[in-house]
Amino acid sequence: MTFARRELLKTGAAAAVVALLGEGCAPIAAGAATLPGFASVPASLADAVVLPPGYEHEVLYPWGTPTGIAGAMPAWAPDGANSAEDQAAQAGMHHDGMHFFPVEGRPDRALLVMNHEYTDEQLLHADGIREWTAAKVRKSLHAMGVSVIEIERTAGGGWRQVMPSPWARRIHGATPMRIAGPAAGSTWLRTVADPAGNAMLGTFANCAMGATPWGTYLTCEENFHGYFGGPKEAARQASPAQGRYGTVPGSQWAEYWRFDERFDLTRHPNEPHRFGWVVEIDPFDPASTPVKRTALGRKAQESATCTLTRDGRVAVYMGDDTRFEYIYKFVSRDRMRPGRDAAARSANRELLDHGTLYVARYDEGGRGAWLELAHGQNGIDAASGFADPAQVLVHARLAADVAGGTKMDRPEWIAVHPQSGEVYVTLTNNSQRGEPGKPALDAANPRANNLFGGILRWREDGGDAAATGFDWDHFALAGNPRAPGAGVRYPGADADAFGSPDGLHFDSGGLLWIQTDVGGSLIGTGPYAALGNNQMLCANPATGRIRRFLTGPNGCEITGCVVTPDRRTLFVNIQHPGERREAGGDTPNSAWPDGTVPGSARPRSATLVVRRRDGGIVGS
Ligand code: FEO
Ligand code: CA
Ligand code: CA
Ligand code: CA
Repeated sequence: MTFARRELLKTGAAAAVVALLGEGCAPIAAGAATLPGFASVPASLADAVVLPPGYEHEVLYPWGTPTGIAGAMPAWAPDGANSAEDQAAQAGMHHDGMHFFPVEGRPDRALLVMNHEYTDEQLLHADGIREWTAAKVRKSLHAMGVSVIEIERTAGGGWRQVMPSPWARRIHGATPMRIAGPAAGSTWLRTVADPAGNAMLGTFANCAMGATPWGTYLTCEENFHGYFGGPKEAARQASPAQGRYGTVPGSQWAEYWRFDERFDLTRHPNEPHRFGWVVEIDPFDPASTPVKRTALGRKAQESATCTLTRDGRVAVYMGDDTRFEYIYKFVSRDRMRPGRDAAARSANRELLDHGTLYVARYDEGGRGAWLELAHGQNGIDAASGFADPAQVLVHARLAADVAGGTKMDRPEWIAVHPQSGEVYVTLTNNSQRGEPGKPALDAANPRANNLFGGILRWREDGGDAAATGFDWDHFALAGNPRAPGAGVRYPGADADAFGSPDGLHFDSGGLLWIQTDVGGSLIGTGPYAALGNNQMLCANPATGRIRRFLTGPNGCEITGCVVTPDRRTLFVNIQHPGERREAGGDTPNSAWPDGTVPGSARPRSATLVVRRRDGGIVGS
């Protein structure tokens, strides 16, 4: 099934999406058959950033760089000797989702806001992690979260960090937060430290993101479960819900619980309920308290992509990146006040606290439905195990089971086409699809042992993001098209191969930027060999042309992507270079960006500032 290509929507929704782009964007016809216009770079196993001819890049804000907070700019210590306090004022580890916020009235200034997803404890601490200490737990918590940095345009057309900056800010695993929305204050969120259930410390495991039309940043808490733990013997007492969310004693990958009791699942079973949310941050108000928005549901949040409904409410699309988890949509109850000024921000400050949460069902034949997740709807009630409305949000995965959503092959980023309003999602892979005892193949997830993932898209009925029905199809079933029997399908003959798509971003002209995350231990091996290191591609949905734009250093994933409104600069994150340790040792397989020989420097995640040498529109 493919739905026929259609004219661009001429609806209120499309106009609303265009309004989201703000001023200064320079859309060009995405339908132009010549786009993307650069020469593809070949798949590569080189330990380097490779771009098409005519493009250049600079490295910005690698892990450990001072954030630029006045009076607290500790220098990077290449031997890992920075303290926990230093780390709280420096770039965190493992840059992920990112957004570019122009500073009003200053065309040469912007805030770059980015996530720091997780910690590599071996690299983080001077003596590695053979032994955990309380200080290492603190440093580790400080190495995740979000950075707000100020950047300015250089004479050459690139961008550099401004230090110090009044906006510079680190938000991390110990920053005070507020909890808002229908689950705030419920019994599910109350703890000894916070009997009211509405105030807490920290955000971490921050993966993909969203940006609201009123100018705030949404950071998404993905694999939070790995930081909660407890004695292995207690695993047997874990509830089915704890099992489903992975918060089971003994399965932790960091030993926080031994030094900070709030991470001990046996002592504070509600603490993990306070993670797995979308968190709203106002980057222009460094004194503001980040807010966890419970109305959007709790899951391994991947992205929180915003668009507008035809009547001016906000819709947020979200993926839950775990095998056989779901795709969600939130639609606000109230209309948004347009604009990004202080008045609009204030009027919209509770917009994400009231609305309807849905899970997606993808049916045979290319139709789909949004199923409401609310107490008393779609079989979600006391009889099916839901004591109250708050529990539906805290255990959104279980509510989605009852409602009958479609279990997907690991939904990652979601992007909305700026003109048509079509929604694209990466399904990164699922090696367990079709295994005995696991969910079977279905129309939306049609490949057993799905090693390479793909991109699925849908179009809401009437072009309205508030619709409860949609048409869908596969934009790409990824992989090496020369591998027989792999079920690979690209949208056109002129497509470069990729696997495990993850990051996804539409620029304002309608070019789709795709980023990949093949696991470090798989890169260059077996069926993945032909795909090379992780990469970034640029697709034109109007023609099906897909061109490889960038290949990354050894071991890294490419993630985080934002094209500036004028389309002259592209910011991209290189995450966990050197992830693979060479056989028999601890040496990361890259020293990027500080060294060219593995082992010569600690590899560091960092942002790339990419532009055309002639200053032209990237991708054209
Ligand atoms: Fe953090 Fe699902 O990638
Ligand atoms: Ca991801
Ligand atoms: Ca990853
Ligand atoms: Ca991934």
